[in-house]
Amino acid sequence: MGDKIDNPVVTEHELSELRSLIETRSGILFDNSRHRFLSSRVAEYMQRRSLTRGADLLRLITSSNVEYESLLERLLTQETRFYRYPEMFSAFERKVLPEMHMKKFWENPRTLRIWSAGCATGEEPYTIAMSICETLEFAEAWNVSILATDVSREALQSAERGVYTRRAVEGLTPHQVETYFLRVGEQYMVKPKIRNMVSFAPMNLAQTVYMGRFDCIFCMNVLIYFSDQRRAALIQRFYEYLEPGGYLFLGHAESAANAQVKFNQVMHDGARLLQKPLGMPGPHAFAATEATP
Ligand SMILES: C[S@@+](CC[C@H](N)C(=O)[O-])C[C@H]1O[C@@H](n2cnc3c(N)ncnc32)[C@H](O)[C@@H]1O
Repeated sequence: MGDKIDNPVVTEHELSELRSLIETRSGILFDNSRHRFLSSRVAEYMQRRSLTRGADLLRLITSSNVEYESLLERLLTQETRFYRYPEMFSAFERKVLPEMHMKKFWENPRTLRIWSAGCATGEEPYTIAMSICETLEFAEAWNVSILATDVSREALQSAERGVYTRRAVEGLTPHQVETYFLRVGEQYMVKPKIRNMVSFAPMNLAQTVYMGRFDCIFCMNVLIYFSDQRRAALIQRFYEYLEPGGYLFLGHAESAANAQVKFNQVMHDGARLLQKPLGMPGPHAFAATEATP
């Protein structure tokens, strides 16, 4: 007797095989804290594919890249919103951008390169763009480029469209909605002024790619997808990609603990930023989780 299609059966062993297959293949880790999430998303996927046994799922994804990618898409969480951590964006506007303004005032061209690593559906890079427009004096005189990357192609497609529901823009001020969005029926589309500041590209952060240098890197709520070892290696790469004096923005629950590199920890109105030292690390450069200078 076969199992019912609406009740797929995946054993613990199959689930753990799936977990290690994803880690080996994509460098993405679903640890024990996300066990329930993983098993329920896998069950949903199997129902859609009319699969009843974990063994059939494993066979399918090992024999087809398309199926593997499609399952992976279902397992990634794209939860995000505009100005997700207001105090971080306030620190960006009040501390980091004025600092960049001073530092680059005499540069010609005056450039600002920012990376939103793990940008999901685009709210984060568009928030960065809005913050820059609202804060940077003579923003139009700057050559601003915001690179936004994610491993999820579906999330990137939606980010590139830049069309959001009324609910998504609810947390913005009426002035921001009016200045940066066009109303299209019941939806809100980012205006070209903002859209053109951002370029999107698919990228798996577990893989090493030459990126050039950035003034700021935002990598919020993505490190949970990495093992301790990969996380430390990624933080090390972020450090190398940053200009001296550049900033790394992590999510609330994330830290650069265990990384070998020495960021300075900078507190600004409740926000914790990590800054790459300006010159050679001196006696005041601490490991990222240690005391504030
Ligand atoms: C919870 S969202 C965070 C979005 C945004 N940074 C924020 O904080 O609001 C996590 C994003 O990380 C992406 N992600 C997960 N693993 C990744 C990897 N190895 N490389 C690139 N992106 C990854 C997911 O696809 C998802 O869009």
